[in-house]
Amino acid sequence: MRQAKSAYWQKIVDEAKDEQGNPRPFFSMAPMEAVTDTIFRRVVAAAGGPDIYYTEFTNAASMVHPEAKFSIQGRLAVAPGEQMPIAQIWGSKPEAIAGAAKLLPEKGYEAVDLNMGCPDGTVIKNSAGSDLIRHPDTALALIDAAKESGLPVSVKTRLGFYKVDEYQGWLETILKADVQVLTIHLRTRKEMSKAAAHFELIDDIVAMRDRLTPNTLLQINGDIKNYKQGMALAAAHPGVDGIMIGRGVLEDPYAFNSVEKEHTLAESIDLLKLQLDLFDEVTKTVTPKNFEALKRYFKIYLRGFANASKLRQMLMETHATDEVRAILDEHVAELVQNEDR
Ligand SMILES: Cc1cc2nc3c(=O)[nH]c(=O)nc-3n(C[C@H](O)[C@H](O)[C@H](O)COP(=O)(O)O)c2cc1C
Repeated sequence: MRQAKSAYWQKIVDEAKDEQGNPRPFFSMAPMEAVTDTIFRRVVAAAGGPDIYYTEFTNAASMVHPEAKFSIQGRLAVAPGEQMPIAQIWGSKPEAIAGAAKLLPEKGYEAVDLNMGCPDGTVIKNSAGSDLIRHPDTALALIDAAKESGLPVSVKTRLGFYKVDEYQGWLETILKADVQVLTIHLRTRKEMSKAAAHFELIDDIVAMRDRLTPNTLLQINGDIKNYKQGMALAAAHPGVDGIMIGRGVLEDPYAFNSVEKEHTLAESIDLLKLQLDLFDEVTKTVTPKNFEALKRYFKIYLRGFANASKLRQMLMETHATDEVRAILDEHVAELVQNEDR
């Protein structure tokens, strides 16, 4: 088993075991803006979640700004009793990254991840996210700045900005910076999420890590749908330490379950109801959440049964969580009874 660089990551490596108690790669839910907040993280946990979670990415400059800091507090909110996620932050100024990372321990965070892969135009205009691939000196300064917090620092990035081949120089730079974990989304910035993830490069990246810094954990990401596919990839590519899944969870909230089984409609509806309750809780106690944004989740839970799309259509017309509950209460008992999945 790999020796990690910190007690925090060693514990994650040590505790990742399969059904038989054998070591397996750790699984994480990918940081996803407007998705992986405290609400959805807790819903996924209730469905049988991964070993680790990340927050949505949070702007370091806002965190250290006297006024802007209130605008982003929902992103870093963690509920009492919730498993502490890793905070993902982004920025291009070492002072902001250092200041932001230093605020994390008092919020209970034990690890920080630097976003160096975001393809979004606004983030790139701020010389951050995947733009750092074109500015490795800045990237190194940001890693050093984050280390000032004393927290274990990891980096999530892409293969390159324009071309796949860039990974050779770019990943070497990051590995030499002595980070705890390198999470590699196996695409370039230019490929966005459109091209297929470059699984063919995994062995080469493992070899690079083994050569340069064998104690850096390597986590792979991109197009991995669920636990089973993650385990198969890890078996085919020895040396991979972690598997990160993003959109797969939006297709199947049970994506991290180690044992595949059919879930009943009643179970899925319970997850949706939990999400509604947590939405109300966070709106009341942390920050107002946007009801419209909740609608993207209906299809995750309500699919694969007769009349699913009719029910979803009704829910799409709603304006508040109580309206959703009323429709579920009115129609679902009968649907669950006739369940044919
Ligand atoms: C809605 C959405 C929001 C995302 N937000 C972030 C983010 O805040 N930070 C980040 O590093 N990546 C973000 N990503 C990228 C994912 O973390 C992940 O790298 C990408 O989706 C590829 O993995 P997948 O094929 O498993 O989804 C986001 C992706 C999606 C779909």
